Amino acid sequence: MTREDIDHPGRLPAWDWAVRLCHWLLASLVAFNLIADDGGWWHRALGYAAVAVVMLRLTWACLASGGARMATLKPSLRETLAYLRAGAPRRVDHDPLGLWMVWLLWLLVLLLGLTGWMSRWDMFWGEDGLLIVHGWLADALLVAVLLHLLGVLVMSLVWRENLPAAMVTGRKRHPE
Ligand code: HEM
Ligand code: HEM
Repeated sequence: MTREDIDHPGRLPAWDWAVRLCHWLLASLVAFNLIADDGGWWHRALGYAAVAVVMLRLTWACLASGGARMATLKPSLRETLAYLRAGAPRRVDHDPLGLWMVWLLWLLVLLLGLTGWMSRWDMFWGEDGLLIVHGWLADALLVAVLLHLLGVLVMSLVWRENLPAAMVTGRKRHPE
């Protein structure tokens, strides 16, 4: 028996501290910016902070081992189809279907940062185009977040496991 088993019997480490910190920081920053959408100082500063969190998470994926590493973040259509055919069995790391949503969330945050930043360039002064796109991206992000929450809720019920709690404690049950 290892020290791990004594401290946390029957629980496996799934999300390390960096994944959890990045997750809850990103969720808070995105929620703030979807509500405080005035384009003011806080909106811009926290929008750039959200971009920084995504970049830190991706850097961590290149350095870390375990459930945070890049190898667990590679989406694959073939794996997703095989996973669905197998009836979406429980996973300790990201499941292949949820992985597409993870990348969509990150991509939308990066594009929001880019369009928000570009909208302030001199060459786009007085033009609304970029901010209209920024608004569409924000709408898409809102829908993606709602689907993410629905996915987490449905899979928590199907697998009878409290997935949000696992994103807080970092631990999940051993695979059956
Ligand atoms: C604006 C809000 C949110 C955003 C942008 C967001 C984004 C993300 C991202 C990018 C990941 C992948 C984590 C990684 O590998 O680094 C993730 C995973 C996860 N999120 Fe969120 N999240 C949000 C809100 C929430 C909330 C409110 C909850 C809980 C109710 C939640 C529960 C989870 C869980 C459980 C996972 C792990 C999924 C799995 O088991 O594969 N998220 N989220
Ligand atoms: C997570 C990142 C971000 C989210 C979720 C977000 C979301 C939003 C939303 C929902 C709006 C309102 C759009 C509308 O009224 O149709 C908005 C407007 C705006 N955003 Fe962002 N944004 C983010 C990042 C940024 C960044 C990094 C900048 C940097 C400069 C920025 C600058 C602006 C500006 C200037 C407006 C226009 C405000 C106005 O005059 O109506 N945003 N954003």
